[in-house]
Amino acid sequence: METTRGFLGLPSWCIVLLCLAAGWMVAAEAAPLPQYYNAIFSFGDSFSDTGNFVIINSGKLPNMPKFPPPYARCSNGRLVIDFLAEALGVPLLPPSANKGTNFSQGANFAVMGATALDLKYFRDNNVWSIPPFNTSMNCQLEWFQEVKETICSSPQGNHLL
Ligand SMILES: *[C@@H]1O[C@H](CO)[C@@H](O)[C@H](O)[C@H]1NC(C)=O
Ligand SMILES: *[C@@H]1O[C@H](CO)[C@@H](O)[C@H](O)[C@H]1NC(C)=O
Repeated sequence: METTRGFLGLPSWCIVLLCLAAGWMVAAEAAPLPQYYNAIFSFGDSFSDTGNFVIINSGKLPNMPKFPPPYARCSNGRLVIDFLAEALGVPLLPPSANKGTNFSQGANFAVMGATALDLKYFRDNNVWSIPPFNTSMNCQLEWFQEVKETICSSPQGNHLL
């Protein structure tokens, strides 16, 4: 009986097996990770802002885009934080400025242009090149405290977070 020869002179049944094995390996690699995390709380600047800057400055600054989240990113696609959320199996992070959102599966406090130091520090040191946005790390941590109260049902839970 003659065996059909295909790629690299291998018998075709062998190629089918190779393809199946390769397909299985790709599928295994693409399988989602086990669910170790239930929520992500993110802080930062434009690298991870998923809509806060647009929401906070809507109606205050000219030419603000009208796009609602999830489109109000400083990017024409997903941000690193979006890929992290997807890889960890949690929803894309809603911007914390979107009041009334259920943040039990995470919130994003990052704002484009945010600084690590408070705005007051720059003003006190006569540094005017920093945009006058009150969105520093301390501000974001204060917003986190407010969000925490909405997602922790008991004082004990609140203490643990
Ligand atoms: C918020 O979402 C979580 C998880 O999806 C759910 O268990 C919880 O009931 C929701 N809370 C409210 C107030 O809708
Ligand atoms: C800046 O934001 C923080 C936190 O929300 C607030 O406590 C503070 O009063 C604000 N400062 C100014 C100058 O608006």
